[in-house]
Amino acid sequence: MQRGRMITGATQVVGVIGDPVAHSRSPAMHNAAFAAAGLDWVYLAWRVEPEALPAAVRGLRALGVRGFNVTVPHKVAILPLLDEVGEEAAAIGAVNTVVDCGGGWRGENTDAEGFLRSLLAFGVDPAGCRAVLLGAGGAARAVGYALVRGGAASLHLANRTEGRAHRLAGALGRWGSTALSAGGLGGAALRRMLAGADLVVNATSTALAGAGVPVPLEWLPPGRVYCDLAYGPAVAPVLEAARQRGLSVLGGEEMLLHQGALAFERWTGEKPSLDAMRAALRQAGEEESLSGPSK
Ligand SMILES: NC(=O)c1ccc[n+]([C@@H]2O[C@H](COP(=O)([O-])OP(=O)(O)OC[C@H]3O[C@@H](n4cnc5c(N)ncnc54)[C@H](OP(=O)(O)O)[C@@H]3O)[C@@H](O)[C@H]2O)c1
Repeated sequence: MQRGRMITGATQVVGVIGDPVAHSRSPAMHNAAFAAAGLDWVYLAWRVEPEALPAAVRGLRALGVRGFNVTVPHKVAILPLLDEVGEEAAAIGAVNTVVDCGGGWRGENTDAEGFLRSLLAFGVDPAGCRAVLLGAGGAARAVGYALVRGGAASLHLANRTEGRAHRLAGALGRWGSTALSAGGLGGAALRRMLAGADLVVNATSTALAGAGVPVPLEWLPPGRVYCDLAYGPAVAPVLEAARQRGLSVLGGEEMLLHQGALAFERWTGEKPSLDAMRAALRQAGEEESLSGPSK
């Protein structure tokens, strides 16, 4: 929201629930989009502890909130609390956007489409590509789904807890004809997969935790695309190291932007200004750099 913008009795409310949530850049991004569109809407961040989730979902409805985003740790836990779940969210098994479906809450997932849009905007079409996905958590589920639906020729899933990677590969098989394989985070097989990959996506939380990329960057041949879903100051050194390696690098900020733009459209029926949202994200990032890394 632009400083000084008037909140009125008619202001429509949306927001994000998570725990923690104070670090979220979504309020800056969405409020900038509302201001650019001239909409009397406001986006807030609500910290909701896991045990308070059912009461929060009911309370948001009682208060007439128009919709909300869902972040860690509620993306899966919220599913049984909703009146409807969209096809993609059900397939992915996680909800990041909740919309009013006329007297009830409908859960959707815009992470998958947001990732796909960020990839396409970067000039990478997953159709026919050989991809390696590091991680098997919530974000990896959305990215894996997007790559399979986007027509990737092959997708290798590598995760620290190997069983999770195998289970995700099994679940993704029904969404397309991508050749799927899975394994752990080390070893000759992964090294071979990385050597032949056009696209490597890091969907682990290692970069955010200051632990870099969970495989040696030397295993990725220069010229290939490296995408890290994390964003913010903690990730900058990882992205720089990948650039130094000669990789074509895409950070997580563009995925955040596009998943947010899709949520905005679902709530308001209007397309937001991507420029206004991108500028607000950049400014929030600069302020975060000055005040130190957030969680
Ligand atoms: N750009 C965006 O819009 C966007 C959206 C969603 C998420 N993200 C980012 O994506 C990342 C993952 O988020 P998430 O929601 O998927 O988290 P999550 O569900 O908690 O999954 C975390 C993943 O990281 C792996 N991991 C954690 N610590 C590790 C370590 N030390 N070494 C190797 N692997 C490790 C986990 O492996 P195990 O299974 O072995 O535990 C798991 O695969 C975060 O950085 C998040 O900020 C970005």
